[in-house]
Amino acid sequence: MVVVRRAAGTDGPTVFGLLAQLGEQYTPQRDVFDAAYADAVKDEEDHLLFVADDGDAVVGYALATIARLFYTNGDAAQLQELVVDEHSRGRGIGSQLVSAIEEECQKRGVRQLTVATLKSASFYERLDYRSTADFLKKRFDE
Ligand SMILES: CC(C)(COP(=O)(O)OP(=O)(O)OC[C@H]1O[C@@H](n2cnc3c(N)ncnc32)[C@H](O)[C@@H]1OP(=O)(O)O)[C@@H](O)C(=O)NCCC(=O)NCCS
Repeated sequence: MVVVRRAAGTDGPTVFGLLAQLGEQYTPQRDVFDAAYADAVKDEEDHLLFVADDGDAVVGYALATIARLFYTNGDAAQLQELVVDEHSRGRGIGSQLVSAIEEECQKRGVRQLTVATLKSASFYERLDYRSTADFLKKRFDE
C-alpha cells in the first residue's frame, strides 16, 4: 500500500533522484537542490511537500507553494512539481499526491490551486482541472 505523507529531510536524496524524471530543461544541481529542499521542509507555511511511500521506498513527490495574492481574496497555491517514479506509474499514486495537496489547501482555506503543464494536461483534466490561462516563460540563464 502506498502512503502519502509529509516529506522529511531524510527523503531529500530520493526526491533529488525523482527530480530528474520531471522532464524540465534545467539540469538539477545538488547543492542548489539541497538548500531549496531544506527550505521547503522547514517552511511549512509557504510550502506543501508530500512524498508517496510504498513501504520500501519513496516513489513520488509533490511540491506546491502558497502565495498571498491580492486578487484571490486569500491565499493561492500552485502545484510546482509532481513526479512519480516511472516504474510506479499508472497505479493512482500521482492522483493520490494531488489529492493530498488539495486536502491541505482546503484545510488551510486556500482559494485556488493552479498547475502549469506542458504534456500532462489530460492527467489534470481527469482530476477536474480546467485550462484558464496561457503560461509564458522567460529564462534568466547565466
Ligand atoms: C504525471 C504523473 C505524475 C502521473 O502519475 P501516475 O502515478 O502515473 O498517475 P495516476 O496513476 O494517478 O494516473 C491516473 C491516470 O492519468 C493518466 N496519466 C498518467 N500520466 C499522464 C500524463 N503524463 N499525461 C496524461 N495522462 C496521464 C493515466 O493513464 C491514468 O489514466 P487511466 O486511469 O485512465 O489509465 C507521472 O506520469 C509523472 O511523474 N510524469 C513525469 C513528470 C510529469 O510530467 N509531471 C507533471 C508535470 S506538471
